[in-house]
Amino acid sequence: MSESPETALRRALEMIEPEMLRGLARTDGGYVELLPDVPAPNPSPASIAMNNRVVATIYEKLWRPFGVSMMGIAGMSMSAERAKAVTDLRLDGPQRVLDVACGPGNFTKFLSEKLTGDGIAIGFDISEAMIARAVQDNRGPRAAYVRGDAAHLPYSDSTFDAVCCYAALYLIPKPMTVLDELIRVLRPGGRIAIMTSCEPRPAPLGSLVGFGTGLAGVRMFPKDLFVDVFEASGLTEVEQDVRGLAQFVSATKENQRNDR
Ligand SMILES: C[S@@+](CC[C@H](N)C(=O)[O-])C[C@H]1O[C@@H](n2cnc3c(N)ncnc32)[C@H](O)[C@@H]1O
Repeated sequence: MSESPETALRRALEMIEPEMLRGLARTDGGYVELLPDVPAPNPSPASIAMNNRVVATIYEKLWRPFGVSMMGIAGMSMSAERAKAVTDLRLDGPQRVLDVACGPGNFTKFLSEKLTGDGIAIGFDISEAMIARAVQDNRGPRAAYVRGDAAHLPYSDSTFDAVCCYAALYLIPKPMTVLDELIRVLRPGGRIAIMTSCEPRPAPLGSLVGFGTGLAGVRMFPKDLFVDVFEASGLTEVEQDVRGLAQFVSATKENQRNDR
């Protein structure tokens, strides 16, 4: 069982694959650093913000609540979103959880507190500023952090019982590559939960909103895209909850994954 943040960090390091990558990782910052001396890319204004220390500092209390209110997730607080993630991921035991694009760990720590025994929640992000904040604010006996690129998750297939990715796919240049990675590292029978953007209807409104958010580097996804991709990937129990400009999609990975 993880007894301290240091034990959780050691376990997070042990889970990195392949072994050669583990050997190159640094842990002196209190997290597993897989990209030493490699700054996070800044392809858009939104990404620049995610790599900024001031934004990382105010992210949990100010930046995210404001952003979420702009998305019109009517009446849903961050605690309600966290509770939804726990329910959708079915967390209640010694599970291994991966929180991809975890930001300052504002979900990771909460998810880790639902685990028991050998359970561990690993927050994974590419931003040094966000990971540093996560280590400062949201470490725990079952919560540890890894800095790397979600397009190349450093884990063997089927490593995790649950995989979460909230408020991030719309910022990532290759979201479908990341989605494939999330599904790859999930074990058969495991649960995935994402929260991302949802294009408003009718189409002219969608184009208008898409143009505005596109300038900031935030992509709007069609309503059916993730449901279709999950189903085409052989996932079952696919559920979607659309709220304003956001969508929550969760599913179970079955034993056989179909190739797309
Ligand atoms: C808006 S924050 C989301 C934080 C948290 N999941 C939440 O729901 O509040 C988006 C995060 O995605 C991260 N991110 C963007 N591209 C990434 C990539 N290729 N790999 C890992 N993380 C990435 C950013 O650094 C940022 O911390």
